[in-house]
Amino acid sequence: MTTRTSLASPGKFTFEDITIPFRPGETVGSALLNAGILHLRTAENGDARGLLCGIGVCWECRCVVDGKPNVRACMTVLQDGMAVRRQQGLL
Ligand code: FES
Repeated sequence: MTTRTSLASPGKFTFEDITIPFRPGETVGSALLNAGILHLRTAENGDARGLLCGIGVCWECRCVVDGKPNVRACMTVLQDGMAVRRQQGLL
């Protein structure tokens, strides 16, 4: 027997005070990419960084999630109400 999974958004999260809906099981990185947001972190030299490998290896996608720094956007499944911020440098 097959079951259908609802594609309705299970909730919303914020990135830099922008409210963004997400789909079930979606990661922070994929939801931000879908929203057209590519700049997830500012490197120590001021360069913009974002998703690179998408599989948890490079750490270029580090964000601040619910106040916790160095969270990989590509490996973090969203939950309703999460607050994500762009990471500045190493923190
Ligand atoms: S994009 Fe490489 S660890 Fe997230």
